[in-house]
Amino acid sequence: MKKILCVIAVLAMTLIPAKADEGMWMLPLLQKMNADAMSSLGCRLTPEQIYSINHSSLKDAIVHFGGGCTGEIISKEGLLVTNHHCGYGSIQGLSTPEHNYLEDGYWAMNRKEELPVPGLTVTFLEYMDDVTSILDKAYQDALKQNKKAENKEELAEKALEEAAQELQKKAGTDFPNCTARVQSFYNNNVYYLIVYKTYSDIRFVGAPPASVGKFGGETDNWMWPRHTGDFSMFRVYAGKDNQPAAYDPTNVPYVPKQALKVSLKGVNEGDFSFIMGYPGRTQRFQTADQLEAMMQQYGVSVDARTVRQRVMWAGMEADPKVRLQYANKFANSANGWKKWQGEQLAFDNLNIIGREREKEAEFMKWVGKNKKRQEKYGSALQEISEVVAASRQAGNDVARISESIYRTGVVSNASVFLQSFNRAIRNKPDTAAAIAQAVRATASQFKDYNDPLEREMAKAMFDFFRKTADPSLYPNRIGDFATMDLDAYVDKLFDESAFSSEEKVKGLEGKPLSEIRKDPAFVLQGAIVEKIMGLYPAYTGGQEKLAAATKAFTAGQMEWKKGEPSYPDANSTMRLTYGTVQSYSPKDGVLYRHYTTIKGVMEKEDPNNYEFLVPARLKELYQQKDFGQYAGADGLVPTCFLTNNDITGGNSGSPVLNADGELIGLAFDGNWESMSSDVMFEPLLQRCICVDIRYVLFLMDKLGGAGYLLDEMELSK
Ligand code: ARG
Repeated sequence: MKKILCVIAVLAMTLIPAKADEGMWMLPLLQKMNADAMSSLGCRLTPEQIYSINHSSLKDAIVHFGGGCTGEIISKEGLLVTNHHCGYGSIQGLSTPEHNYLEDGYWAMNRKEELPVPGLTVTFLEYMDDVTSILDKAYQDALKQNKKAENKEELAEKALEEAAQELQKKAGTDFPNCTARVQSFYNNNVYYLIVYKTYSDIRFVGAPPASVGKFGGETDNWMWPRHTGDFSMFRVYAGKDNQPAAYDPTNVPYVPKQALKVSLKGVNEGDFSFIMGYPGRTQRFQTADQLEAMMQQYGVSVDARTVRQRVMWAGMEADPKVRLQYANKFANSANGWKKWQGEQLAFDNLNIIGREREKEAEFMKWVGKNKKRQEKYGSALQEISEVVAASRQAGNDVARISESIYRTGVVSNASVFLQSFNRAIRNKPDTAAAIAQAVRATASQFKDYNDPLEREMAKAMFDFFRKTADPSLYPNRIGDFATMDLDAYVDKLFDESAFSSEEKVKGLEGKPLSEIRKDPAFVLQGAIVEKIMGLYPAYTGGQEKLAAATKAFTAGQMEWKKGEPSYPDANSTMRLTYGTVQSYSPKDGVLYRHYTTIKGVMEKEDPNNYEFLVPARLKELYQQKDFGQYAGADGLVPTCFLTNNDITGGNSGSPVLNADGELIGLAFDGNWESMSSDVMFEPLLQRCICVDIRYVLFLMDKLGGAGYLLDEMELSK
């Protein structure tokens, strides 16, 4: 009986949200919008401790990692932790079949063994300020000055753009070693000047083997219950003055303004938790018509990727070398592929489009009540719909081309060549030097290129394209696409193109550009681009109208909900989301506990399935219960846990923090039942999947043997 009561109590907790913890909040507005709600949920920090532009604050420990993820600094010596899937590309890039850090894991046992990662950057937020009124004034002044001109809006836009440039330039001198950007929020209704400092000497410190860091693979991706040790560690290096510097062996570990304390205290259901990071894109201000079009386009991409990934995976399964070469390409492709399918399912299950239409009807009712509103917002939805209707088919067609035949291996390589050449020639008008540089850039592609597999993928994609595309989209200039023997064409293309092997690419050096341009890969690329360009007028023709209508629609919604806390769509700027540790019910009669343990890793083990391998040493630690200080109250090492924080792609690697701002985990995924979360937040279903910091430290220390790194962290026990 007691047990039953307990279950009911837990159910009650999961089914009645304490608060809908929706929101990717802007840091400068915490005091105004969130401070009370945060403290009522248990937060013990002031907004000033979290975000301050005058003093050091928690935000100084949070970074944009590699431009697409989040990371956080966890020591005074620049040690950084992020997700395994965020470090994945870097780790793969450093790996060779002989030193396969991706497959086997890696831990530097001292600073000398930390491996520089070419091209990887880490960016700190230095300063941000609302500059909307300055830019608005520039716009309005220009409108007035040009009130007789036919293109006065265009001129005003230009004036706004110039004012933004001016602000950026000034900030560039006010903040040495920084770059400044004016970024738009709420679809051009609000602007902030944001100043960033970017470090580019980043070194790889360590990561668990893929069998742990990516445990569960694509099968478990986007799903709970989860047992992935999704973390990797890096270190930020600086010049002797602690400022950004290009890689140099004499650079020193960066000394941060703040480093996060790391908590070993663990998490309980209902605990306050918050996350700071760089969410990439959401669509919470899009209309039902836009969402419908988006879903349809996802469908096209999913179809193409289903075919391509099947071929890619078979190639990877057949050869460990190929597996390493294509690991990152496959993970990226499959991540979107599964996300979009989950999104389609959730759209249906949760009636997202229907609910969006209801919301729009409500909005229009509100607009209709007042003449001024009608003038400002009355036609926005209609105009958006018109642009969507006019561009929808072209959008699908562009997706079909770019997801299939445009990805032909030799065409991708030729594109790399072209881009590199163009960049070089812009810097210096020396054709021979530009070709030499383009050759080098292209040659480096072959580390991750397998010719037989590329041919097979190309054949599958050409076949897919011919079967599914409208014949008007078939490329010209390469023969009669409708009837040609596609396999023979692809083989001939790869045989004759210089872009199918490193050796042949190197042979291009010293050749005249006119000759290189005749390469069959360039001919095909030209033919494909011609088709894409043909679609562009329909695809992008309505952009200006769409931007204006979207701005108006968003402004209308802001006015409609005036007085309520609000947040703009994610745009790769730093945000904060707060809530609590929470279980959920995925379907009637089923309750998912808020955490998993190492026991589940052992339960999922399948020696015959690459996605569910468990390293022998981890099994040993488990059998010997050698859990050190990392076990939870149940005597097991916790692996992952759930919160109701509101995140999206880009938040990956974000710190999950407790009421005192100590690190309790890293956010790394969303859950299957609410994959529509970029569009609508679902309080009952939407969860953020986090790897428990105790699992991270356990793996680093006990599995990796890198316990010495604990010495530089501040642990809270
Ligand atoms: N779903 C995660 C995200 O988008 C990425 C997980 C990467 N893992 C993978 N199996 N592809 O943040």
